[in-house]
Amino acid sequence: MENKQINFFKSKDINTVLKPFKKGSVVKIDSFDIRENQQDLNIGLFGWYAICPSKELKINTLHYFSLYDEPLVLYRDEYKNVRCIKNICPHRGASFFGGTLSNGVITCPYHGAKFSSKGNCQNLDRITCSHIVDNKYDNYAKKIHLSQYKTLEKDEYIFVHFSKKSETDLNNISEDLPISNYQLSDNGFSHEDYVSEEVLVDFKCDWSRIIENHLDILHLFWVHGDTIPDKDVNKNVLVSFNQKINITPKYIESIYFYKNAPSKEFIRIKYIPPGRILIYKGNPSACRYLQVLDHIPLGNNKARVIVRHYRKFLKNKFLNNLILFKETQRKIFYKIFDEDYMILKTQTYNHKLGFIKKDEIKLLGEDRIINYFWKWYKKSEDKDSPWKNINKTENHTVYDNVILKYPPEIKNLEVINNIDIIRKTLVRFAAPLLIFMLII
Ligand code: FES
Ligand SMILES: [Fe+2]
Repeated sequence: MENKQINFFKSKDINTVLKPFKKGSVVKIDSFDIRENQQDLNIGLFGWYAICPSKELKINTLHYFSLYDEPLVLYRDEYKNVRCIKNICPHRGASFFGGTLSNGVITCPYHGAKFSSKGNCQNLDRITCSHIVDNKYDNYAKKIHLSQYKTLEKDEYIFVHFSKKSETDLNNISEDLPISNYQLSDNGFSHEDYVSEEVLVDFKCDWSRIIENHLDILHLFWVHGDTIPDKDVNKNVLVSFNQKINITPKYIESIYFYKNAPSKEFIRIKYIPPGRILIYKGNPSACRYLQVLDHIPLGNNKARVIVRHYRKFLKNKFLNNLILFKETQRKIFYKIFDEDYMILKTQTYNHKLGFIKKDEIKLLGEDRIINYFWKWYKKSEDKDSPWKNINKTENHTVYDNVILKYPPEIKNLEVINNIDIIRKTLVRFAAPLLIFMLII
C-alpha cells in the first residue's frame, strides 16, 4: 500500500496552538472539538462524483475521462440523457477513442461495431464474420453489450455513480447513498437565488492531496495572501481562531470563529465525501456566497477540480457583462489554482519523489479536519480498494493526453482568459471611443 503516510496522522488534543507559519504571518487556532454526532462517516470512496458541468457535454461528442484509472466515456444519447460507459469495446477491447457518436449510436473505430444507447450491438454481422467463417459465433456475439455506470444530471452538473463494478444492465447497480447528500438544496442552500461562475482544471497530482489543500485554512493566508480579494486574508495578518468540528455520517464540517470575537464566524468548510467541499460563511439559507469544489480522482496523480462560485450579489447580467465580472473572477481562480499547483505538484505520490515518513511531519490542532480526512481516506481505501489491479507507479502517458482535457499547464488557460479580457475590453470601451473620435 503506497499511502502509508496516512497512518502517521494521529489525532492530538492540543487546546491552543500557535503556529508561526512564516515570518510576518501568524495564524492561531484553538481547537475545541465538539461533535454533534459520534457516528463515523458512512460514505466511502465509491458513490456519486460530479464529473463536469452539464454544458461541457455537447451533443454527438464523446467525453473521455477516467475514475481511479478506469477508462470511461460520457455522452448524451438520442434523448439527451447522459450515458457513462467503460471505454472498452466489448468486441475486442478497443478504446472508443477515434470512434463516432450519432443520435445515441456509438461506432467503434476498430471494426465498426455500432452500439445503441441501451448498449446492444446493432450490426453483429460486421463483427461476427458469420458470412465468412462460423454461424455459431453469432450466439456469442449476441452477448456483446456495453458496460455502464449510473449517471444523473442535477444542479447543472453531470454525476456518475462509481463503484468499479459497471453493469450491462443499469438496474443491477444499487446506490450506496442518494445523490441528495451532495445537492445544495439538501445542504440548506436555495441555489436558485444565486448566479455562478466556474472553472475546471486537471492537475497532474494526487486527488487526496488536493482535497487536503482545500481543507487547509492556514495556507490561505500565506499562499493566496496576495490574491484573495479580502483585506483580512494576507501574509501580514495576525489572526486567531476557535475551531468547531461537526462529524455526521454524511459529512465533516469545520467552523472557524474569530478568537477575539467568538460569535463572529470567519468561514466554514464542509467536506461531503467522496469528492465535494462546500466553503461558505454562516447559515446556508442566508449566506450570500458559496464555493463548491468538486474533486475527481481521474487516476494515479491525475485529478480534476471543478470550482463553482455561487453568489447573491451582482446578479445583473448587463452589468456583469459590462464590467467583465465573470472573466475577472476566472482570472482570480486561475491565479489561486496556479499558486496551489506550485505546492501540489511536488506532493504527489510519485514513487520517484519518495513518501512522507512518520517523524517528518507534525499535524497540529488547526489540522484537525485534515486529520479526520486522512483517517477516513485510509479506512475507505482499505475497504473499497479502488486501486486494485492498478499499478500506481506506472505512467499512463498515452491515455493522459486523451483524458486531461483541461490542461494542467494553468498558464495556458490564464493566457486565454487574459486575451479574452483584453479583447472584450477593446470591444466594450476602446472601439466605441475610436468610432466617436472618428465621427467628431
Ligand atoms: S474492437 Fe470494437 S468493433 Fe472490434
Ligand atoms: Fe489553496
